[in-house]
Amino acid sequence: MKTDKTILVCGGAGYIGAHVVRALIEAGRNPVVIDDLSTGHAAALPQSVPLVCGSIGDRPLLNEVFSRYPTEAVVHLCASILVSESVRDPLKYYRNNVGNGLVLLEAMLAHDVRTIVFSSTAAVYGDPQFSPLTEEHPTAPVNPYGWTKLTFERMLHDFGSAYDLHWVALRYFNAAGALPDASIGEDHHPESHLIPLVLKAALKIRHPDLSNALPGSLKVFGSDYPTPDGTCVRDYIHVCDLADAHLLALDYLSDNGQSVALNLGNGAGFSVKEVIETCKTVTALPIEYELADRRPGDSPELISDSARAKRTLGWRPKLTQLSGIIQSAWNFHQRFPQGFPDKQPPSA
Ligand SMILES: NC(=O)c1ccc[n+]([C@@H]2O[C@H](COP(=O)([O-])OP(=O)(O)OC[C@H]3O[C@@H](n4cnc5c(N)ncnc54)[C@H](O)[C@@H]3O)[C@@H](O)[C@H]2O)c1
Repeated sequence: MKTDKTILVCGGAGYIGAHVVRALIEAGRNPVVIDDLSTGHAAALPQSVPLVCGSIGDRPLLNEVFSRYPTEAVVHLCASILVSESVRDPLKYYRNNVGNGLVLLEAMLAHDVRTIVFSSTAAVYGDPQFSPLTEEHPTAPVNPYGWTKLTFERMLHDFGSAYDLHWVALRYFNAAGALPDASIGEDHHPESHLIPLVLKAALKIRHPDLSNALPGSLKVFGSDYPTPDGTCVRDYIHVCDLADAHLLALDYLSDNGQSVALNLGNGAGFSVKEVIETCKTVTALPIEYELADRRPGDSPELISDSARAKRTLGWRPKLTQLSGIIQSAWNFHQRFPQGFPDKQPPSA
């Protein structure tokens, strides 16, 4: 049931969050964003959307936000997201992804907001014992990032039983692509995701003057994994299909759906080398790369079985072809070769 109340989008200025905000607006909902802009961009949000600049770990700020905006539900996308950094600096990850998330949950309960859609991840599974991964696969993360996400899922589970909190944990596989009109897309600093890194390597060929502004040479981490060509295999899901799932999850919870964790992926695995080849075809540019050692914390293969999300939410991904996903990302990167222009955030 749609209401005029606010959907509070925590982390809504980030890559996936900004796409969720656009989908909410298109559906006639009322998003308000809270984001500390640690990795997000005010420029990714329409001026009409209130942006509260600050952390979800700031209790007084959350009290103010919930008092000012009568809130129907929270979409919680805030996180520190770099797997390799989480191995080096787990404290940062537990503090932000668990500690600050706990402050958010406490504030929600204090203001009687009992519905949350949480951005979880395929990293909760660890190394696959079978593939594709269903939600029944054992959860045994192989890096602190995955543990922080699984810990938050556990908190949702326990809070659900004890405090009548209703939740959906969406376990995204690899988000990729950009809004079809190329107005928003992926712009992380530093960038760790494969498709933008490959496309930035292509941009350097097309615009040699940008060479100093873009990351160094393209590295493929690990070429001796037990996969067909030795490089890691991932399941790429278009960011707009992810955004749609958030809307469906909100409707599902407002129709009294049971709390649940759901995989979101396309069910097809592509190796790093296959992604690079597809990027070469899409860009029509020769993209070179170096082979490097494996990175700690990477699983060899992560492929989703998303049947439960389809059954439970009626979710149907639409932009399923890897070349189409990459084309939409390429359109964004060509439009904003150096990422979003930095602007002053609009005030809430
Ligand atoms: N990108 C992927 O492929 C992927 C895959 C699986 C799961 N996820 C999850 O999806 C979510 C969004 O990922 P993304 O790629 O859009 O990342 P992102 O870094 O672009 O977005 C995260 C946003 O949260 C904000 N933020 C972080 N900590 C905050 C805090 N304490 N208070 C307020 N704002 C805060 C950042 O400024 C940023 O705008 C994350 O939770 C991530 O773990 C992403």
